[in-house]
Amino acid sequence: MIQVGLIGLGMMGNTHLDVYASHPGARVVAISDIDPERLSGRTRAQGNIVGQAQGKFDLSQARRYDEGMKLIRDREVELVDICVPTPLHLKFAQAALRAGKHVMVEKPLARTRRAADRLARCAEETPGRLAMPGMCMRFWPGWDWLKQAIVDQRYGRVRAAHFRRIAPYPGSGFYLSGEDCGGAILDLHVHDTDFVQWCFGMPQAVTSHGYRVLTSEIDHVATHYDYGTEGPLVTAEGSWAMARGFPFTMQFTVNCERATLAFDSGASSPLKVFRDGVSEAVPLGEGMGYAREIDYFLNCIERREAPTTVTIADAARSVRIIEAEAASIRKRRAVRL
Ligand SMILES: NC(=O)c1ccc[n+]([C@@H]2O[C@H](COP(=O)([O-])OP(=O)(O)OC[C@H]3O[C@@H](n4cnc5c(N)ncnc54)[C@H](O)[C@@H]3O)[C@@H](O)[C@H]2O)c1
Repeated sequence: MIQVGLIGLGMMGNTHLDVYASHPGARVVAISDIDPERLSGRTRAQGNIVGQAQGKFDLSQARRYDEGMKLIRDREVELVDICVPTPLHLKFAQAALRAGKHVMVEKPLARTRRAADRLARCAEETPGRLAMPGMCMRFWPGWDWLKQAIVDQRYGRVRAAHFRRIAPYPGSGFYLSGEDCGGAILDLHVHDTDFVQWCFGMPQAVTSHGYRVLTSEIDHVATHYDYGTEGPLVTAEGSWAMARGFPFTMQFTVNCERATLAFDSGASSPLKVFRDGVSEAVPLGEGMGYAREIDYFLNCIERREAPTTVTIADAARSVRIIEAEAASIRKRRAVRL
């Protein structure tokens, strides 16, 4: 049974707590938040997609700390799960690794490429401790299926792939500050940038367009990832500039030599394969990506094996690509990687 301490009782902290509450291999022994309302449980954060942050964990079962660093000093805690605002990821993850804990850290890995690289170096320097970033799309039902279909080429090679993640603005907490959250280009679109990197490797260059309307950072971005003249045509769009009431939407359309594969989170059968004039719905695996990523990482810790589905270095590369996308918008030209 792995003893877990979780820092940050916001939307993601509560989502992770739900997962631990029903996991037989983990027990949450400590929780932390600087907000007394959240720490006491008088206020519980809500999720922004169906199934998130249901409040299944009874907070009174855990020791409570009014600051994350105090939880890291709790000797019983073996795994520190970090769900605080992005600019704090580096500080808490470094401190936890250096204190001999395993670390699960939410995405994006860090606010800047520099901070992400520092965290990647720290994870390398503490080899006995395992660390994993919460790049949940690599575990998401339907998306993990796509990755496998690309790898085994069951529909032939990919000619083109488009990813889309659009939503209304969260508009509260640390999302109010572009400086803190990094805008939609970092906070939301990193999911697709990371997925693109997982499926196709590092692009040679990126060309992005985007605009700011809600924060000081890019709130809506569209990017072409350059895989050369022989490689696939890969694009992604990410935005939180949709009008209030617009549903959170994530989609992909992947055109292979022998079929077109499509996912739409708003459809009754989200995953479909189109070929020879017929469309076939593909059943999705069980659970949300959050539960699957945490289950995977707990298994890695049990077996004392470093995660391979996603690593801290992968997540640092994704932040690097995002910074290249932002630079491309600023410079109005392609940026090489
Ligand atoms: N994987 C995903 O799909 C996904 C979705 C949403 C958010 N996120 C990421 O999760 C992280 C948290 O986002 P959120 O929406 O839950 O934010 P949030 O604002 O709802 O929650 C963050 C919590 O951290 C607490 N906190 C701040 N400083 C602290 C400290 N020093 N010690 C202890 N607690 C502290 C705050 O009081 C707050 O309750 C962000 O990095 C965000 O980008 C990931």
